[in-house]
Amino acid sequence: MCAGSGEKRTPLGVNMVRYHLSFYPNDVGINDCLAGMFLPYFIRVVHTQPYLRWLFSAFMSTTKWQEAAMVMAPRWQFFDDLLKNSVEKDDIRQIILLGGGYSTQILRNSKLLERNKVTVFHIDLPKLTESYISTVNSFLLGINNASESSDTLSDICPLDNINIPKTSHDIAIEYWKNYVKFISGDLNTDWESKVVPELLGLGLNINTEKILIIFEAVAQYLQPQANEKIFEFIAQKCPKGSKIGWTSFTRDSTTGKTRADILKNIGEPVLFSLDSQTQVEEWHKRFRLSIKECITSADLIMQRLNKYFLKNHEKKIESHTRYIIAEKLDIPTV
Ligand SMILES: C[S@@+](CC[C@H](N)C(=O)[O-])C[C@H]1O[C@@H](n2cnc3c(N)ncnc32)[C@H](O)[C@@H]1O
Repeated sequence: MCAGSGEKRTPLGVNMVRYHLSFYPNDVGINDCLAGMFLPYFIRVVHTQPYLRWLFSAFMSTTKWQEAAMVMAPRWQFFDDLLKNSVEKDDIRQIILLGGGYSTQILRNSKLLERNKVTVFHIDLPKLTESYISTVNSFLLGINNASESSDTLSDICPLDNINIPKTSHDIAIEYWKNYVKFISGDLNTDWESKVVPELLGLGLNINTEKILIIFEAVAQYLQPQANEKIFEFIAQKCPKGSKIGWTSFTRDSTTGKTRADILKNIGEPVLFSLDSQTQVEEWHKRFRLSIKECITSADLIMQRLNKYFLKNHEKKIESHTRYIIAEKLDIPTV
């Protein structure tokens, strides 16, 4: 039951929102047209026809999807900023995407990652990993298993301003082939027995090279012990200066409705949460991590999203998540 929680609705749902948002103006900063490659063919067709796209937009804006978009947009920006700053300012050359889902982050940033020779380890459940690899292979390398379409990467990016130029496409291919490594495993059960040994086997350097762990919208689907093991790995094995960017779910409610109940109803129960700022601080202290940034989803939304396009100042926004960046301070104990 627990294994795979968050596997059904969320990765595809998240990509639907991302793809949809890529049709908004550029300054919103959601140019994730690549998310479209994971979606059913008919959704991509809808988006290539202006009238159908308008209808789809109208539908999205009158449903819960708008709320999802409000949450997703700033979250996406938060983690993109983290990746860019870690590579450009902190000289991090190894990234672990824990529960990477169908995130297109590494492909969208392949130019930066290629230039800096950053290795990415993408970890998720076996089925999802398999489908991620075959989808990207089919769009990026033209190894097309899907009979329904002959889409290429640029077909799913119909707006001029987000079209992928040929050179970027080539870079993405080179990057994908040389620097992205996959591990399929269940973070609830396989962390010590499979995931860590495979990470080391695939070349993760825990002795001298700082590591960035991106753990976005996953911790709440894991058992508390699984999260403890992951954070213990950072505390005990990762070099000083390594970072984790993650989302910490809270059951606190600022508006009366709890997001945890909603998730339970759709079959994705919250298994782990830190419910107050004190708990968040204690958790990081326990694992010798210094919090560099910690912002609630509501504050992030107000700060960044409203500024651009939704103008939703009057609406009370539920704060169900904290976005956190924390840094490993001391040297590892062997
Ligand atoms: C909400 S999605 C987030 C995906 C991605 N991080 C993003 O932000 O787009 C949650 C991800 O966690 C993965 N996941 C859930 N339970 C897991 C487990 N026990 N082991 C490995 N991955 C898991 C799901 O397969 C899914 O891809």
